[in-house]
Amino acid sequence: MALIETVDLWKTYVMGGERIHALRGVSIAIERGEYVAIMGPSGSGKSTLMNLIGCLDTPTRGAYRLNGRNVDQMNDDELARIRNEEIGFVFQTFNLLPRATALQNVELPLVYAGVGHRERERRATAALEMVELEDRLLHRPNELSGGQRQRVAIARALVNSPSLVLADEPTGNLDSRTGDEIIGLLQVLHAAGNTVLLVTHEAGVAAHADRVVQIRDGEVAHDQAPQGAHSAPRRERRGAVGSPQADAGGLGRSPV
Ligand SMILES: Nc1ncnc2c1ncn2[C@@H]1O[C@H](COP(=O)(O)OP(=O)(O)O)[C@@H](O)[C@H]1O
Ligand SMILES: [Mg+2]
Repeated sequence: MALIETVDLWKTYVMGGERIHALRGVSIAIERGEYVAIMGPSGSGKSTLMNLIGCLDTPTRGAYRLNGRNVDQMNDDELARIRNEEIGFVFQTFNLLPRATALQNVELPLVYAGVGHRERERRATAALEMVELEDRLLHRPNELSGGQRQRVAIARALVNSPSLVLADEPTGNLDSRTGDEIIGLLQVLHAAGNTVLLVTHEAGVAAHADRVVQIRDGEVAHDQAPQGAHSAPRRERRGAVGSPQADAGGLGRSPV
């Protein structure tokens, strides 16, 4: 069973009487353990697709199954729950709470999940160690560099052991060297068995993915492994960060 399966997914926005078809029938299946890059021009529907896959929004039409569950008809409460259980989201703008420390930001999904204080602190600290921020636990976002903020966001995305990590242009607000570090970190997460879906503008970044999906005008224009890539065969991976099978989790090293 695919981790993600969308069938003829449409999203239509209505603005001032005008209808904007942001997605026009996207059908896509993504297996557990894949690393998929989504590319396409600005306005082609990439973020709309990520938001639907990430359960931040529901489609106008079409079916979406995530980890065997029908998501397309869920109400806001159900979406919030499945998001908390299944999805780690990394945004271009980091989306951290400005008054909260790195540790508190990373603990947040665990607060929603009802995890107790000590266990929260233990898991959030381990997640921050994994992104090499163990010496910045008590810093607030404005006391961190852009790259460090995005690493806090990645730790937050992973702390709840999600089925899926979504990153929508995570390097868009970073200089290229810092961006490369973030992309490197996503590759490490994938190598550890995580399913990663990344929106990027850079062909060089996409070349590291198992598969590149090109979006044009709300449709899938192209979907294949990058040219010359030694594409890993699709496999059922175990022991991913967050997979229930993982005994220790966390990149196979630090427990998260
Ligand atoms: N909340 C919204 N309300 C109305 N139109 C929107 C909304 N979000 C996106 N759109 C429109 O949908 C299209 C796709 O947008 P988006 O998914 O953000 O594209 P991308 O991420 O590829 O740049 C664009 O034409 C955009 O203007
Ligand atoms: Mg976008």
